[in-house]
Amino acid sequence: MYILGLNAFHADSSAAIFKDGIMIAATEEERFTRVKHWAGFPTQAIKFCLREAGIGLDEVAYITIGRDPKAKFLNKLNYLRKNPSLVFGAFTRYRNSQEVSSLEKLFLQVDPNADTKQLKEKIKNIEHHRSHLASAFFASPFEEAAVLSIDGSGDFTTTMIGVGKGTQIEVFDSVDFPVSIGLFYTAFTQYLGFPYYGDEYKVMGLAPYGEPKYVDKIMQIIKFLPNGLYTWDDRYFVPPTKAGFEYANNIPSVGNLFSEYFVTQFGPARQKNEELNQYHKDLASSVQRATEQIIFHLLKELRKRTGMKNVCIAGGVAQNSVANGKVTEASGFEGVYIPSAGHDAGISMGSALYYYHHELGKPRNPAIYSAYTGIKFSNEEIETILKERGVAYRRLSDEELYDIVTDKLIEPGVVGWYNGRAEFGPRALGARSIIADPRNPKAKDLLNLKIKRRESFRPFAPSILKEYTSEYFTKYDEVPFMEKVFPIRKEKHEIIPAVTHADGTGRLQTVDKYISPRYYALIDKFREKTGVPILLNTSFNENEPIVNTPQEALDCFLRTQMDMLVLENCVIERR
Ligand SMILES: [Fe+2]
Repeated sequence: MYILGLNAFHADSSAAIFKDGIMIAATEEERFTRVKHWAGFPTQAIKFCLREAGIGLDEVAYITIGRDPKAKFLNKLNYLRKNPSLVFGAFTRYRNSQEVSSLEKLFLQVDPNADTKQLKEKIKNIEHHRSHLASAFFASPFEEAAVLSIDGSGDFTTTMIGVGKGTQIEVFDSVDFPVSIGLFYTAFTQYLGFPYYGDEYKVMGLAPYGEPKYVDKIMQIIKFLPNGLYTWDDRYFVPPTKAGFEYANNIPSVGNLFSEYFVTQFGPARQKNEELNQYHKDLASSVQRATEQIIFHLLKELRKRTGMKNVCIAGGVAQNSVANGKVTEASGFEGVYIPSAGHDAGISMGSALYYYHHELGKPRNPAIYSAYTGIKFSNEEIETILKERGVAYRRLSDEELYDIVTDKLIEPGVVGWYNGRAEFGPRALGARSIIADPRNPKAKDLLNLKIKRRESFRPFAPSILKEYTSEYFTKYDEVPFMEKVFPIRKEKHEIIPAVTHADGTGRLQTVDKYISPRYYALIDKFREKTGVPILLNTSFNENEPIVNTPQEALDCFLRTQMDMLVLENCVIERR
C-alpha cells in the first residue's frame, strides 16, 4: 500500500512516499524550485516521490495532507469575533484553505490525465500538530513515549502534548494561536535585527556571546498554567494575522511580531545592518535560556503526567538544537527522538505515518535514523553532465577518492562533497556538504571568505564517527540528524577549534558506518592521517537552498572559491 504525504501551502512545502509504512522517498519542494522555505504546492517533490516509488498517481492508495481547515473551527470563529479587524486577513486564509480543500485539481500539474474524482476520495486531511507528533513518534524506536509538538503555528495550534502508545497517539491538550513559543522566539529574532523567515537559528548562534542577564525579565512575559501548558502577556506581541503573514510568490514572510509595548520594555529594536552590541548579545543569550526554561517546564510536566521514560519532539521549535541537547538532564526523560525534518517539511512524512498507524491501525516499522531520502545521481549521469559542460575531471575509485580528498582537507582546502541521496530536513549530513579540517583555527574565516559570507558569530558543525563521541563530547547519545548540541570536552577545544563554538559546545552529527558508509569511510581516512575522527560539515550552498543536482553543485563550486568538488567518484580541482 502506497501513501503519499504532503505539506502544502505552508512554509517548507514537501512530499514523502511510503510503501507499507516504509518511507521510500521524501524531499522539500525548495530543493527543486530553488526558493528557500518555498510554500506552495509541492509538484516537483511529488513527481520525484512517484518516480522513486516507480508508480503512477493512480497506484497511490491515500494522499495525506498535514492540514485540516476544519480543526479548531469554533476557536477560530471566537478569535475573529474578538478581533474583528482581522476578518479580511481571515478571508485570504480562507482562500488558502479552499485551495487545500480542492487539492485534487492541483494534481493535474503532476499528471494531466489524473482522475480528480478518484483522487478526491483518496485525500485525507490530518491536523498539523498531529502530523508533527506522528513524524516523531512513529519514526522513533519507542513502543510508547510522551509526545510534544511545538512551533510557530499550524491549524490554529502552537503547542500540543500527548502520549504515543503502539499505533495510537492520544492528545491531552494544546495551546491556541496566537500564544506561541515559536512566535515568541521569532519576535525576539526580529527585534534583534534578523527579519527573514527562519532566521531564529542566528539568535541561537549569537546566544553564547552574551550573558543571560534578562531571563527573569523575559520570563515575566510567560505564565505557566496548571494543565502543563502556558499563556503569555499579549501586550508584548502583534499576532501574525495583524502583523502580516504572507506567502507572496510562495516565499513565507512575517511582519514584526513585537509590539510598541515590547519596545518600551526592551528599548529600540536593532536594525538589520546595525552593529551587534553587548546588549543584543545578552538579550540573545537570555531569550535562548528563557526558551529552554519554557520547553523544559513543558517536558517536566509531561513526564509527570505520562510517567513515560522517553519523549518524541517535533515542530519548528524542535530545531532548537541547543535546547534539545539538554532535554535529558533538564526534564528527566531518558530517551529523546527528534526527526530529521522536525520543522514543517516533516508534516508530509508525519501526516502519512499518522494515517497509516493511527487511522488504519497498521503495525509499526523500524525506527528511522537515515535522512537520505532525496534525489541521487549515478557516476555515469554525472560524467555526462561534466562532459556536456566541458569540465575537466578525474573518476577515481573509492579508496583513491578518500585519499586525495583528505589530503586536500589537510592542505588546508575546502571541499564540496556530493554523495548519494540528498538529505530530508534542514541539515547537510554528508550527502550535500561542504567539508573542511576541524583542526584548522582559520577554517571558519576561510569558509566565510571563500564560500559562505555569513555572520561571523555563527558556528560550524562537527561530523564525528559515532564510536568516538565520548572521547570528544561530555555526553553520549545518537545524534544522527545534527539535532542536538553537546559540550565538547575542555581538553579537545584546542584540537578542534573550527567546530568548537564560543561556549565550548558543538552541534554534532554522529556518523554511523551502516547509515552513511561513504561519509564514514572518508572521515575514517581523515582519522588515520590526523588522529581526529571529525570533519567540519556545513551545508552545500551559499544562500540558496542546499544544492540538489550535480549541476547546482558545480555552479556553486564555480561561483565560489571552493578548492575541490567531489561528485560521487568524480573529482574536479580548482587550478
Ligand atoms: Fe509546524
